[in-house]
Amino acid sequence: MAALTLDIFRASKSFGGLRALDDVSMRVAAGSVHALLGENGAGKSTLVKGLIGYSPLDQGSILLDGRECAIASPRDAHALGVGMVYQHFTVAPGLTVAENLLLARGRLPWNISWKKEHAALARFMDTMPFRVALDRAVGGLSAGEKQKLELLKQLYLQRRLLILDEPTSVLTPQEAQEVLGLVRGLTQRGQLTVLMITHKFHEVMAFADTVTVLRKGKVVGHAAVAQTNENELASWMMGQARVAAAAAPRKSVAPDAPVALALEHLRVASDRGTQAVRDLSLQVQRGEIVGIAGISGNGQKELVEALLGQRRILDGTVKVNGSPYHATREQMLAQKVFSLPEEPLHNACVAGMSVAENMALRDFDRPAMRRGWRVNRAAMQSRAQKLIAAFNVRPPAPESAIDTLSGGNVQRAILARELSEPVNVLVAANPVFGLDFAAVSDIHARIVAARELGTAVLLVSEDLDELLELADRIAVISNGVIVHVTQARDADRAVLGHFMAGREAAAAR
Ligand SMILES: Nc1ncnc2c1ncn2[C@@H]1O[C@H](COP(=O)(O)OP(=O)(O)OP(=O)(O)O)[C@@H](O)[C@H]1O
Ligand SMILES: [Mg+2]
Repeated sequence: MAALTLDIFRASKSFGGLRALDDVSMRVAAGSVHALLGENGAGKSTLVKGLIGYSPLDQGSILLDGRECAIASPRDAHALGVGMVYQHFTVAPGLTVAENLLLARGRLPWNISWKKEHAALARFMDTMPFRVALDRAVGGLSAGEKQKLELLKQLYLQRRLLILDEPTSVLTPQEAQEVLGLVRGLTQRGQLTVLMITHKFHEVMAFADTVTVLRKGKVVGHAAVAQTNENELASWMMGQARVAAAAAPRKSVAPDAPVALALEHLRVASDRGTQAVRDLSLQVQRGEIVGIAGISGNGQKELVEALLGQRRILDGTVKVNGSPYHATREQMLAQKVFSLPEEPLHNACVAGMSVAENMALRDFDRPAMRRGWRVNRAAMQSRAQKLIAAFNVRPPAPESAIDTLSGGNVQRAILARELSEPVNVLVAANPVFGLDFAAVSDIHARIVAARELGTAVLLVSEDLDELLELADRIAVISNGVIVHVTQARDADRAVLGHFMAGREAAAAR
């Protein structure tokens, strides 16, 4: 049996005065899938970064098959057969599947025989329970296929314990089912042991054998999945019973509400110089949420970047309240067009700066935030404190560097900044990506509240459930074009799925 048993014994790790991991012990049996659950900031990433050697633990032991191991770097972890698959793909899009696999090995001989290597790779693929064609370019693979390739790469590197950090967050529900089914199969065959971080209860219930819940750095519960349920897990996570918030009744959009955001015949370039967005026209009224549904990579990212002034518009116009809009900083402030971009740590923050400074990025040059020619630190600090409390950012420390916050808390800090005053237009791209369930309902409520106050919301999401829940209208984007528009209350999931898949269907023909 290749699968490793993992024991973590009394692991601790502190950052300054914060005990991010506090005496954590747990066991993952060989050939099982073990889920690691916990609210944002609970210590999940800190634990797995210790296991993979990116940021070694302060104290505690890691045992593989009962033997204590020193893991001081990812290289140590890899040598022991421990690997990791991330939320985002690490495969190189410009290369083929075969090239990606070979390069993953690291050192290649200078006189590589492609023919021999290809034959060896083909033999490897034959031993796998699923495959991806070796000669395909990775750039042309769907998200599900890329995640399969990430798994194959780990198996090719002979990993025996795999850590998955929210592995399905960029997949469609069908792809997620398939990939987790494959993972499960590999563990059941005894090839692999899996430790999986996820925020999705249904994935835990359907695909994990056992689960550990962390809260504020401590283990608060262990269970066999067959002997627990979602409510128990949620109450462990939050330290209280889960209260389902009743959805507030919503006004319907007034038919004569003015158009706040109008996109007219937009064309936007991709990084490769082709057109990612082609002749896209769409209107969002005041007090309306228009959802853009689509499989990742169909032009959503480029559309959002264009609306935020981060990408050149080749042709067409954007109008806000009837006037042409060019997404400069001055215009964003004057017209109150705010945004929640994807991956806020990269796209909406300055990593080295504090939470308070990041919260002031929009308006540090406005009179309220100035004292003469200097920034009014006291005003900045006290406003940050209020936003931190209102949006429940943890830890509640305005002076900490934003890149030391957990993923979910970065997201909350940026939301707090963008929704701290009434806005005309809000552009949100996958706004709850990586957030725990409590934060998801919190942020959804805030988006709906903004709508009730008259904000026009353009909500780009790969999560159909999110769109069906929040949007008034849903537009499907496929290959850079809006291929279908419907009222959300009349929307049919299967029909939406059909239009979303348009591009792959076209490519297969
Ligand atoms: N390099 C660092 N410096 C200071 N504090 C840190 C650092 N890395 C993590 N922390 C803190 O440790 C705690 C645990 O963070 P961690 O990233 O492990 O949470 P998480 O469970 O992965 O959360 P999420 O679901 O949001 O990803 C948080 O309070 C975080 O702010
Ligand atoms: Mg994390």
